[in-house]
Order: sequence, then structure tokens, then C-alpha cells
Amino acid sequence: MTHLLAGLDAHAQRLASTSLAQLIASDPARAQDFSLRCGPLYANFARQRYDRVAQATLFDIAKQADLAGAMQQLLGGETVNGTEGRAALHSALRGGAVGSAFALAARAQAVSAQLRMRELIDALAATEVTDIVSVGIGGSDLGPRLIVDALAQTGARFRVHFISNVDGNAARRVLAGLDPAKTAGIVISKTFSTQETLLNGSIVRAWLANDTRLYAVSTNAQRVADFGIPPERTLPMWDWVGGRYSLWSAVGFPIALALGMDRFEQLLEGAAALDAHALHTPLHANIAVWHALTAIWNRNGLHAATQAVLPYDDRLKLLPNYLQQLVMESLGKSVQVDGNAITTETVPVWWGGAGTDTQHSFFQALHQGTQIVPADFIGVLKADHPHAANHAALLANLLAQTEALANGQDSEDPHRRYPGNRPSTLLLLDALTPHSLGMLVALYEHSVYLQSVLWGINAFDQFGVELGKQVASRLLPALHGESQASDVVTQALLAVIHSQANAN
Ligand code: F6P
Repeated sequence: MTHLLAGLDAHAQRLASTSLAQLIASDPARAQDFSLRCGPLYANFARQRYDRVAQATLFDIAKQADLAGAMQQLLGGETVNGTEGRAALHSALRGGAVGSAFALAARAQAVSAQLRMRELIDALAATEVTDIVSVGIGGSDLGPRLIVDALAQTGARFRVHFISNVDGNAARRVLAGLDPAKTAGIVISKTFSTQETLLNGSIVRAWLANDTRLYAVSTNAQRVADFGIPPERTLPMWDWVGGRYSLWSAVGFPIALALGMDRFEQLLEGAAALDAHALHTPLHANIAVWHALTAIWNRNGLHAATQAVLPYDDRLKLLPNYLQQLVMESLGKSVQVDGNAITTETVPVWWGGAGTDTQHSFFQALHQGTQIVPADFIGVLKADHPHAANHAALLANLLAQTEALANGQDSEDPHRRYPGNRPSTLLLLDALTPHSLGMLVALYEHSVYLQSVLWGINAFDQFGVELGKQVASRLLPALHGESQASDVVTQALLAVIHSQANAN
């Protein structure tokens, strides 16, 4: 597939001396023509550094790579995760499945799990429990944490807290503020073998006053039972859902507790609306396709090494953390599905933070640094608070940054010169609701998948994270002084750790 991308360099060279300001001045209609809408989600790509000719090549690549067919395969439940022999049917969790027998069966399982979630929430609501502690990591944490932080309202029936890091300070700090008699715990792990989650789950199990208030979400019912949580308090997961795509499943139990089941379902409906858009909309009007092609352009045409994501809404400040796993665990590969080394660059480093805070930290480098950093700016039009002056300032800053990065400003003083020509995409939500946030997250999921198709890599495995886990389990006995490390540098470091431990 990557041979299709070879032509991008020629377009990038052709456009190298044409600034974004010139591109827009010579084609003012692109402000309109490079924008798309899907319900409450608006996207504007006019400040990307492609012209219509380069874009035609990108859409030609999309056609030749059969992105439309790839969406059918994904939502139809085909084995898109070849290295593990699995489907990736997160769309079935939200009703966005295509009508294959496998996808329909998955959908039926998802619906029955949602019914059980509703029953468990109703039963918990009838108790004195006020707080929920959710234990999980990676895909079993980041999605729920993002959505709860974005959408939980004050005065909700349950307050939801998260423990992920194996550092015991994480558990200590969360539990310190809670009453074990009024708290329930959820241990979330697709495999139920993740070291961090089992250790933190054990802390919460021992801390709870009443361990009948401990719940689990997992594919592995046996390991859950061995941990001491019975089937009636266990919600299912399936191997046809990837961990980082799982917030729509019972992994979203903390979301449903924080928001209520009705708003959780609105989140699913929003994602399903984006599924339908990504599946049925022709390539030229398809936001997921535009987003994916833009990512490919910036990486393989402009060779940008990093990509920023900059939500201008404090409620979305965890979005960069969430996207780091979604994008980089999915696309951080250098081998194609056929086992051959890839000959182009794949995922850039994704990073970011919420505006306007970040304007006062790293934006200096975005404006005047030597690296061009393409950015996704995300804004929300409805304020949902009474501070109208703040909201106007927020939106003015959002618009100002995208404009200033693109256009720059000349000066005779080189220190005060802004080179501009820095590309960005603007995504706007009419309001931040479960529905619109579901759409936004699903947009990124599908963009990631379509990028993986264009690069010919598997977006759904993550073997890269295994080696570090294996080495850590080998080193645990060495840390206890029960064995020797084989690596000389590690031996020296262990000696430092042991000498400090003895000194204390
Ligand atoms: O970091 C690796 C990983 O396997 C992620 O893909 C996953 O989301 C996370 O660990 C947690 O895994 P589990 O849900 O099985 O505990």
C-alpha cells in the first residue's frame, strides 16, 4: 500500500515555497470547500498545507487503497487484527455494526451486557454507596477517565475516581479521601493479568469495608473468580474489542455510573452516528477520510515528526492522554501486516494539552521553533457556564492561534518575526454532550484505522509493550535480592537501589 504514498513527496516539494497564506489567498473558496459537518461536529481543513491538486492525489490514494471497503471490513466484523486472528468490533458496542452474522451476534452480546450494567447501577443506587473507585490501566482506564472528566456533573448519584499507576501513591491519594463503608470498587482488565491492575485491585479489595461491593469487567471469568469476584458482579468483555477501543463496552461501567446509563447510551449513539457517517459517506465528504489523509500528508509529505492535539475546553484536557494510547499504540509499528518492514514513516509522536494554559507553556515553540508541528485544535461553541466573558476570550484565543500559526507576521527584527506556515485542523463541537463527544472519539478511532490501512499495518495489536513487561517480571526477584540481573548496567543500578535501601 505504501507505494501509493510515494507521490506525496513530489507534491510537498512543488508546494514547498508556497506559504499557507498564499495557498488561501489564491483559493479563498477553500475556507468553505475544505470544511465538512456531521451533526454537531464541524471540521475545517483549510489551514492544511495541501492544495487541491495534492488533495486530488490524496483522494486518489484513498480510492486505490479502498478505504470504503476497509470500513466495510471493520464494521462487518472481519479479521482486521490478523496477527491475533481477531475482529475489532467496537462499532457493534454502539449499534454501528454492519449486518454480518458475526457482527450481529456481537451486537446482541453488547446489548445484553448493557442491560446488566443498568441493573447493577440501579441496585447500587439503592445502597448508601456514594463513591466508586475504578481500577484499570491503559485502555481499561484512559477512555473512562476522559469521558467522566469531561461529562460528569456535580450532584450526580456517584462520584467516580480512578487508580491506574502501579505507584502506590496513586492508590494512597485516591483512597485517602474516601469512606470504605460508602465506596464500591470496579476492577477492569480485559485479560485480568495486568500487574498494575491486580496489585491496585488487591489494595482496594483489602480496603473496602464490604467486599460484596467489588465488581469486575473482563474477558477472563476464571481469573476474576480466582481474584474473589463472583459472576453476578462480573461484566463481560470479548476478544473482538481492543482494549484502547473498549470504553463503549462494560469497560465504560464507570462512565455509566458517573453519567447515568441514559447518558452513557447517548455517548454510544453519538459514536454510532459517526460510524454511519464514516461507513456510508463518499470519500470526498467523509470527515474520517479527510482526517486520515491529512495525517498521512503531514507525516509522509511534510515529514512532521510530531502532532499536537489542543482542546480549547478544560473538560477535554485528558483528550491528549487518551489519544496518545489510541493513536500511538495503534500506529506505532514499523512492520506491515505481511511481515515486511515498512519503507515510509508511520505514526508521529502525539502530544498536547488544553488551551489556553498551553499558550503560556509550549506555544512559543509552535510559533517560532525549528520544527513544524501540525495541530488539531478542538473547540466547543456552547459554554455550559455563566461566564460569558471567559467563553468569548476562549474562542477568540482559539481562532487567534490557528490564524497566527498559519499566517505568521513579518518583522525587521528577527526575534520578533513569526514565520507562520504552520498547519492545523479545526474541529468544533456545537456543544459538549455525550452525543458529540461520542462522535469526536469515534472520529479519531476511524481516522486511526484508515491511517493503518494506508500504511498497511495492523492497528489492533500492541506487541511492542510486551518486552518491557517481561523484563520487569524477570527483574522483580533481582530487586528482592533473590537473583542476579544479567545486564551489567541494570546490575549497577540495582546496587545503587540496594545500597540506598540498606542505608534507610
Ligand atoms: O499497555 C498494554 C495493554 O495491553 C493495553 O493495550 C491495554 O489497554 C492495557 O495494557 C490494559 O490491559 P488489560 O485491560 O488487559 O488490563
